Amino acid sequence: MPANRQFVIDHLPTSRLTPDVFKASESAIPSPGEGEVLVRTRYISLDAANRAWMWGATYRAAIKAGDVMAGGGMAEVVESRAPGLAAGDLVWGDTGWQDYAVLNGKHVTKLGKAPAGEPITHLMSVYGVAGLTAYFGLLECGQPKAGETVVVSAAAGSVGSIVGQIAKIKGCRTVGIAGGQAKCDLLTRDLGFDAAVDYKAESFSKAMRAAVPKGIDVYFDNVGGSVLEACLFNMNNNGRIACCGAVSQYDSPQAHGPRGVPGLIVTKRLTMRGFIVMDFEEQNAKALAELSGWVASGQLKVREDIIDGFDNLPDALIGLLAGDNVGKRMVKVS
Ligand SMILES: NC(=O)c1ccc[n+]([C@@H]2O[C@H](COP(=O)([O-])OP(=O)(O)OC[C@H]3O[C@@H](n4cnc5c(N)ncnc54)[C@H](OP(=O)(O)O)[C@@H]3O)[C@@H](O)[C@H]2O)c1
Repeated sequence: MPANRQFVIDHLPTSRLTPDVFKASESAIPSPGEGEVLVRTRYISLDAANRAWMWGATYRAAIKAGDVMAGGGMAEVVESRAPGLAAGDLVWGDTGWQDYAVLNGKHVTKLGKAPAGEPITHLMSVYGVAGLTAYFGLLECGQPKAGETVVVSAAAGSVGSIVGQIAKIKGCRTVGIAGGQAKCDLLTRDLGFDAAVDYKAESFSKAMRAAVPKGIDVYFDNVGGSVLEACLFNMNNNGRIACCGAVSQYDSPQAHGPRGVPGLIVTKRLTMRGFIVMDFEEQNAKALAELSGWVASGQLKVREDIIDGFDNLPDALIGLLAGDNVGKRMVKVS
């Protein structure tokens, strides 16, 4: 019987994430109890929120020292004692950073097949959390109308790259904010953004203003902090801000709130709406049908960043927080 490779939290980080936070370990492969399944992990999703979970409880329990590092994964059922699930089924669940996991059958999602001709990894990117977050956050919270200006931050990332393309499909002027000229070039050259602004450049505020000559109607905020502040000052009256995440705050003990709250919210009559992708679960089928139609027609390009090898998990997360990724980052483990 093979061993179960795991990454366990050695200690919680108090500042930037470093590799020593994770300890490689092995355990026996567990057995499922009544209502549970034993799964073998194939791909583990790397998400900026993985780091946020180390600060305390959010929409999920906090990660503690001694825990197997938490994370979502695509896995195959090896043994099932749960109704509706059988050996060989492909599922999505909170596998954590390990080869094998026992999960409550009620807490896993059975995955269908990827559309013909598309790789299975699309179930983790455009048809997974990233695609659904982009779709619902933009369309339900942002309510964009054709002709409006939509701005998205972390625009070359997994969620942001899809947000910008959906905004374009909806007839909006689309502006991405990303770190570095290479990512900005990719947004306008490959992903159809009308403009892109480098938030790491000294001239960021000026460039931001120039990129939105008619102001911002919808801002999809993935990062918070000073980028949110720059957008707040450029919002049009009655603008909408979809609050998706705050990646600028996840890897640092010091949170920086933006200036202009609540003053600009009042004077510009802004709506800021936070959401979690699960809030819209009952509409998933409609969203997936629309997303797959756009992929099939070539209007929506899927960018994935797949790293091979279980041992690379810590560096893959540290690199994601540093902006190494373009599109949806995941690690292939088996
Ligand atoms: N609400 C929900 O249901 C939901 C669901 C999924 C994800 N999210 C949120 O969506 C956001 C994107 O997450 P993701 O997992 O898809 O990651 P991602 O966008 O693929 O990668 C994170 C990106 O954040 C950027 N970044 C890092 N530090 C930054 C900083 N200080 N300021 C600005 N940008 C910074 C980096 O790109 P650069 O090179 O451009 O810096 C990096 O590539 C996160 O805030 C996450 O929490 C929310």
